[in-house]
Amino acid sequence: MAKRRKKLDELLHSRRASHESVLEEKTQLSNFLFRCCVSVVLLLCLIALAGPSTWSAALGLSLLFGALAILGTVSVSRLAPGLFPGPSQFNQFILLVLGTALVYKFILTKGWSPYLTPLPILSMMLGLAYAQAAAVFIVAAMAFYLALLAPFSSGMVLAFPLIDFPMAVVFSLGGVVSVLGVERVRKQSRPVLVGFYCGLIHVLAIFCFELMRVGDALFLDSALREELARDAGFGLVSGIASGAFVTSFLPAIESFLGVVTERRLLDLADPSHKLLRILRERAPGTFQHTLGVQQLAREAAEAIGADVLLTEVGAYYHDIGKIFKPEYFVENMGEDRSIHDRLRPSMSKMIIISHVKDGMLLAREEKLPQRIIDMIPMHHGTTVVEFFYRKARKQSGEEEETPGEDVSYRYSGPRPRFAEAGILMLADVVEAIAKTMIEPTPNRFRDMVHEVIMKRLEDGQFDLCPLTIADLRKIEDSFVRTLTNMYHNRIRYSEADGDESRDVATTAATRGDRGEPKARPSKNGRPSGGGKPRKEERPEEPPTGRAGDQVVEHVKGAHGQ
Ligand SMILES: [Fe+2]
Ligand SMILES: [Fe+2]
Repeated sequence: MAKRRKKLDELLHSRRASHESVLEEKTQLSNFLFRCCVSVVLLLCLIALAGPSTWSAALGLSLLFGALAILGTVSVSRLAPGLFPGPSQFNQFILLVLGTALVYKFILTKGWSPYLTPLPILSMMLGLAYAQAAAVFIVAAMAFYLALLAPFSSGMVLAFPLIDFPMAVVFSLGGVVSVLGVERVRKQSRPVLVGFYCGLIHVLAIFCFELMRVGDALFLDSALREELARDAGFGLVSGIASGAFVTSFLPAIESFLGVVTERRLLDLADPSHKLLRILRERAPGTFQHTLGVQQLAREAAEAIGADVLLTEVGAYYHDIGKIFKPEYFVENMGEDRSIHDRLRPSMSKMIIISHVKDGMLLAREEKLPQRIIDMIPMHHGTTVVEFFYRKARKQSGEEEETPGEDVSYRYSGPRPRFAEAGILMLADVVEAIAKTMIEPTPNRFRDMVHEVIMKRLEDGQFDLCPLTIADLRKIEDSFVRTLTNMYHNRIRYSEADGDESRDVATTAATRGDRGEPKARPSKNGRPSGGGKPRKEERPEEPPTGRAGDQVVEHVKGAHGQ
């Protein structure tokens, strides 16, 4: 009977997996087709804006733009893979490019100076949203396109090249300065300064090209000097006005692009922030846990070159959902730790898991950046609430574990999709276990951290995360270093320090990171839990005195585990 049920479960599991992969392929195909259609529409709009006077010019432009678009797409996808993770990001990009072209066309139609370009605004926005290499590439392409619009619009009949080359170079230089300048926006006024630098580079480039074009006459002819001063002045105004625009609308731009600047992160990292204050008051234990996680995660992020500030702020807010029912989490329990004894495991599991959903709702209400909101569910990924899963199995008296059986005790995810979320997932577990270790040593920290990382890796939690094995190794080293510093008062540096009771306690604490038995990969690649746990490994039956209590305390609070 058990064998037939196992076979049926395996069959259902494999059918569900294949169904999911077919759905994913269909979604990818429809996304690709959608992007192709939108790109063609954008190209047609850009060609129409250029306003070629003859059909042959239109055909030439269309073929040229088509080839450039294909090569540009391939180059950008190699420079910054995954630049547009979803259709909304792609649509935003199309809107920005089209909007910039339309505004520039309007400026030309009004007969204003072509140096009054809005390109620095686009450059700063792309610099905020994208990897710099990709942003610079796109901005340079856009600079050449805008330089193409000017002669067509003014009705000039030019021999090849059709574009105004000096103008293209001036725009490109200003664009590059704008992209590079917004890398670290710690103050809202920063874009004004970047805009000023952009204006200065416009002035310098215009002066250089005028010098090359007219030579000594520039210093002798007052009309030429006036023309230079006018163009340079408009170039300067373009940069400063763009900077002022971005500064004024920075919060709206951050929200539109779904990016989070250092300025916003620094605001959120302020301990007096409303949410952190409430967390400290209602769930002091969780707040302390949060500080530990932040310390571990920050050092690890620095070690692998991830975004340190984003990681820190993600750590501060990852458990804010616990402010609604703090007493159900071990770090906030007082002397009475029997609250879960009165509940069925499935009910306890629901309460534990709900802190993720509550946290996301609260974060959305408080308008936290999307990146921080994403880190709330990702810090648990699709891991199992081990303690209550084991408790439920024990109560039902089931001996054999079947694949996929733990699904109803798993968090709903998603799994970490960026490095900072992956670091947070590991720091969350490591901090919680480290607190429970009796007389820790650096070697015990290393064993525990290594086991936590391997368990998450084997469970497929990092399948969608860009963390490499080399990164995980650096994270492991960093965690051990940080834990050794954090607990230096408690550490015994003698290696001949283990009597049996301490070893048992530490082993129980490190196994499966919540006192659960060491996981072994099952047939489907997921850890099966390694069968029936030995007595000292069972969270419900701690080994000895205080050491065992601590493991149980930790497992029960579980930080949602
Ligand atoms: Fe959590
Ligand atoms: Fe946590």
